[in-house]
Amino acid sequence: MFKGKTVILGVTGGIAVYKAVELLRLLVKAGAQVHVIMTKAACEFVTPLTFQTLSGNPVHTELFNLITEQEIGHISLADRADLCIIAPATANVIGKLANGIADDLLTTTMMATKAPVLIAPAMNVNMYENSIYQENEARLQRHGYLFAAPVSGFLACGWEGKGKLQEPALILEEAARALTPQDMAGLSVLVTAGPTREAIDPVRYISNHSSGKMGYAIARAARLRGAAVTLVSGPSALTPPVGVELVEVESAAQMLAAVLERSAGADIIVKAAAVADYRVAEPAGQKMKKKSDELQLSLVKNADILAELGRLKGKGQVLVGFAAETENLQANAALKLAAKNLDMIVANDVSAAGAGFNVDTNIVRILWRDGRCEELPLLTKEMIASGILDRVLLFRASGS
Ligand code: PMT
Repeated sequence: MFKGKTVILGVTGGIAVYKAVELLRLLVKAGAQVHVIMTKAACEFVTPLTFQTLSGNPVHTELFNLITEQEIGHISLADRADLCIIAPATANVIGKLANGIADDLLTTTMMATKAPVLIAPAMNVNMYENSIYQENEARLQRHGYLFAAPVSGFLACGWEGKGKLQEPALILEEAARALTPQDMAGLSVLVTAGPTREAIDPVRYISNHSSGKMGYAIARAARLRGAAVTLVSGPSALTPPVGVELVEVESAAQMLAAVLERSAGADIIVKAAAVADYRVAEPAGQKMKKKSDELQLSLVKNADILAELGRLKGKGQVLVGFAAETENLQANAALKLAAKNLDMIVANDVSAAGAGFNVDTNIVRILWRDGRCEELPLLTKEMIASGILDRVLLFRASGS
């Protein structure tokens, strides 16, 4: 996403400047070409040399002392940018931008650029809550500026409250979103991910090897593309994607309830979760004791959530299922596609190397209701997720 992209990182004066160093490191690691502009005040906190060393590019600080070529510096930087980020952004720089004041290199560049501008404010809580600041932020938002909201915590000034610079990793995620075409804006997407756990007793359960990686990748991709995303997840060790509504569940019954509660409003539903087909008929109330050499568990069938969604499917809603198979991949997936009234099914042979459970890659075949089938090669789950969403959008556009 950042490869080959030019990012202008504006750094203004505040104790959080040290976090901008980490943000720069993350941007460079992600493949971006970063050019840093520091205000005079920012240079009081960290020297330009730090940013220069990490970016591999000269740091710009002066409006009238610019790049060696015969270019007008702020215009040249503004034109080169695919994205501008100001982090940390003081109340001062936000106030200037909101009021069209361009009196230094950073503000002139921001005014001149056609690239998206992402602002990560950091300031004292009372300044942040000040109605003048809030009006300035709202004004910039109306003009299309993006914000990575500050978080609450102990502030350097001694106060506690909202005003701490957002974590660099989260600013990076917002930057990724700013660089992504918003072709899913206005759409509501419901994704399920991870395994379910069916209790045997209070300390044991039946489950499977799903890590949640496939579903989380889909949720993240949809959110980056502008969708409002709800992720219903079984137990997973993964960090949930930024900006999605996370609903945590354990059992198939809980997943069923959580999904049905939210499905009516969803434009697109993708069911990547590995739901247990059976649960223990009567889970023990206390930890079961080791008695006989053999133990029989009686299982009863869980509701099929996807089949239920297929039954309830609203007009225009796109329903995508997954099929985890170890044999007869295409034939089994086609049966599920028809039986559950799906628009599309993503079939993966979970016994193939690099595919299925708990790996970062997958190999899938995508089957449509009209009989079409497309095979994707071994790809990262992020790439598979984008591929699925591309096809869902095409399907919607075709009005099928
Ligand atoms: O989470 P990862 O480690 O990244 O692994 C990814 C994955 C292998 C879990 C994923 O790629 C995948 O294949 N998910 C579907 C797993 C599964 O349960 O497949 P299935 O063929 O048993 O079920 C078919 C479909 O019905 C699935 O969309 C499933 O969510 C749904 N289902 C199944 C049973 C049930 N009771 N309710 C359901 O909704």
